[in-house]
Formats: sequence, structure tokens, C-alpha cells
Amino acid sequence: MGVPYTAAPAMTHAICIDKAVTKSVLMSHGLGTARFFVVHPGERVPEDHSLDYPLIVKPLHEGSSKGLRKESVVKNLESLKNAVKWIHENFKEGALVEEFIEGTEVTVGLLEAEGDVRVLPLLEIDFSGLPEGVERFYSDRVKNQGLDVYIKYHAPARLPEKMYRTVEEAAKRAFRILGLRDYARMDVRIKEDKYYILDVNSLPLLVPEYSDITKMAKAAGMSYDDLVLSIIRSARRRYGI
Ligand SMILES: Nc1ncnc2c1ncn2[C@@H]1O[C@H](COP(=O)(O)OP(=O)(O)O)[C@@H](O)[C@H]1O
Ligand SMILES: [Mg+2]
Repeated sequence: MGVPYTAAPAMTHAICIDKAVTKSVLMSHGLGTARFFVVHPGERVPEDHSLDYPLIVKPLHEGSSKGLRKESVVKNLESLKNAVKWIHENFKEGALVEEFIEGTEVTVGLLEAEGDVRVLPLLEIDFSGLPEGVERFYSDRVKNQGLDVYIKYHAPARLPEKMYRTVEEAAKRAFRILGLRDYARMDVRIKEDKYYILDVNSLPLLVPEYSDITKMAKAAGMSYDDLVLSIIRSARRRYGI
């Protein structure tokens, strides 16, 4: 239709809406992501898989922590089968099974400016203040049902300098490889000396205060308007308007 729009082109959204395809693209370029396999509805969980427990079981195509609950993290074959069955029954889509990375979680906001990719201050999501017994990851209830008040954010993330730079560089490369544009956000976990890109958002929400990318922009000294204008400026430059 020729209508200019912000953010990635359709092909990139098509890749990013499928967590397994995204991970395969990243892996084929040597970028870090957790080891995984997919179980489609009607298929059986392979009993001889080579992944190491604990594993996390997520819907292949959702976002906003949908389908993520305490029981998503499993430590044996029986609970793995139950978690996969639950995804098939509730979402009618494939279940992504991947190694659970027990480590620091950061989210990475990227802005395209003048054709260059700029990384906003990395935002660390600190789950340590959650009440006893609550899962230490962004499950649906932690993110969306009130428990987020216990989460502490640190921008910039408290990572060793070298790892901080490694994550920035990896996210920039992923941005280019996936064909992202204008802005994007990625969830990354760091364990020991490795980083794992777990989720790429090709069209992140821009809710003032609530959305992580608005928190990162603020840490970079940008107002909400600055953030939105930066996205629009990048798109206008592409279209020459
Ligand atoms: N492999 C993993 N290891 C550890 N935590 C994970 C893993 N995958 C997901 N999580 C946790 O679940 C949250 C949501 O998963 P994510 O893949 O980002 O899905 P969504 O698209 O719903 O945001 C992450 O922010 C993280 O806290
Ligand atoms: Mg995510």
C-alpha cells in the first residue's frame, strides 16, 4: 500500500514471532542462545533428549510472559511432559523446551539512529526481592499480576565491564542479522562467562513508565517524547520523508 511505518519489515516480524526460528538464525551466526527443541501438538516429548535440566517450557509464539508459570520450569521427564501437554492444550501451538539459565537477566533496548545502532543502558531485572516461594523469572504472575512491585531494576546493569560490552555487541549484531529497524528489545540471561539471547521483540510495547524500553531511555537521559521521536526520525530517514 506504500504506507510508511516504523519498526521492522514483515519478514523480520515473521521470524521473531517464532522463538525457535529466531534462535536458529542467531545460532547460525554464532550468537549465544539456550539449547532447545520444539514439541508440536500431536508429537511426543523425546525421552532421549540431550538437554540438561532444569528446563523451561514456553509457548512458541506468545509474548508478555503468556503461558509462563512456576510449573514451566521442570526438573524431570514427567514434569516436562506435563508442561508440554499444558502448552498444547492451552495454546494449541508448539512448546519450546530450552535449558533454564540460572543467572542474571538483562533486557537490551536498541535504537537505530542515522543508520547506526545504539544500545541503551542495559536494564537488569533483579528478582531477588520477590517473596519466598515465588519463581525468580518473568512468569505471567510476576510480570503482569501485581508481583512486579517486588522487582528491582538496575540501569546500567551490574555486569562485569567485559560482559557488558559483549552483550551490547551481540545485541547489535542480532539487530542487523534479523533485519530489525528503528527500535527493538531483547531479553538476555548471563551465566558465568556466557550470554544467552532468549527473546527478541521486533515491536516492543511503548507504554510510558511500564515498558522496559521506556525505563532504558530514561536511564539514557531521554524523555518519552525523545524516544518516540527517535523511532520516527529513523523511519523517516529510511523513507526519505
Ligand atoms: N531459558 C531461560 N532461562 C531462564 N529464564 C528464562 C528462559 N526463558 C525465559 N525465561 C524467563 O521467562 C521470561 C519470559 O520469557 P521470554 O522468552 O522472554 O517470553 P516472552 O516472549 O513472553 O517475553 C524471561 O524474561 C525470563 O525471565
Ligand atoms: Mg521476553
